[in-house]
Amino acid sequence: MYPERPLTEALERISTRRSVKALDLQEPGPSADSLAAMLATALRVPDHGKLGPWRLVTFENDDREAFGKILATRWQALHPEANDAQIAYEQNRFLRAPIVVAVISQRQADHKIPEWEQILSAGAVCQNLLVAASLAGFAAQWLTEWYTYDAHIQSLFNIGDHEDIAGFVYIGSASAKPDERSRPDTQARINRWTETMALGS
Ligand SMILES: Cc1cc2nc3c(=O)[nH]c(=O)nc-3n(C[C@H](O)[C@H](O)[C@H](O)COP(=O)(O)O)c2cc1C
Repeated sequence: MYPERPLTEALERISTRRSVKALDLQEPGPSADSLAAMLATALRVPDHGKLGPWRLVTFENDDREAFGKILATRWQALHPEANDAQIAYEQNRFLRAPIVVAVISQRQADHKIPEWEQILSAGAVCQNLLVAASLAGFAAQWLTEWYTYDAHIQSLFNIGDHEDIAGFVYIGSASAKPDERSRPDTQARINRWTETMALGS
C-alpha cells in the first residue's frame, strides 16, 4: 500500500484548464529542455499491449514558416480563386504559436489489441500534452483544421493506411486569460449503476 498524496495545485490547474486559441498564443514558448520534458510526459499514456501506437512531429523556429509555405501552396492549388489575405493566412498558420506538435496515431493492424484502443491512446497523448503544457506554465490548443484531413499534406507525414493525424497541438504563452467556456451538463452524463438498470426499469 502506498497511497498517493493529493497534488491540489495540479488538480486545480487541470480542472480549470482552458485551451487558448492559437491566434492568442505568443512567445515565449518552452525551452528545448522544457519541450523535451513535455513531450516525454505526453507519451506517458495508457497503451494496451505496449505498442506505442503514436508518433510526434515537432515544428520549431523557421521550420514553421517553411511548412506554412507548403500549406499556402496547397491551399492555392485547392482554391485557385484564393485571395492574397487567405494565402498569407495559410503561410502564417504555423507561426501562430512558438511550437506546433503533430500527433499521429500509428496503429498495428490485425493485432489482438483493437485499433480503436490504439486510437484512444493517441487521443490520450494529445490531452496529456495539453495538460503537461498547462502544468509547465504554458497555454495550448489542439486543432485539426483542414490540413489534417488533406491527402497531400498527409503524404508529407508519410501517413499510412493504419495511421491518422490526431491533431496539431499549438503551444506558447497566452496573450490573455481565456474566458470560461460553457460546458456540457456533466451531471447528466454521470450515472451511478444500480441493479435496477440491469432490469431495464
Ligand atoms: C480532435 C479535436 C480537434 C479540434 N479541432 C479544432 C479545430 O480545428 N478548430 C477549432 O477551433 N477548435 C478545434 N478543437 C477544439 C479546441 O481544441 C478546444 O477543444 C476548444 O477550444 C475548447 O477547449 P477547452 O475545453 O480545452 O478550453 C478541436 C478539439 C479536438 C478534441
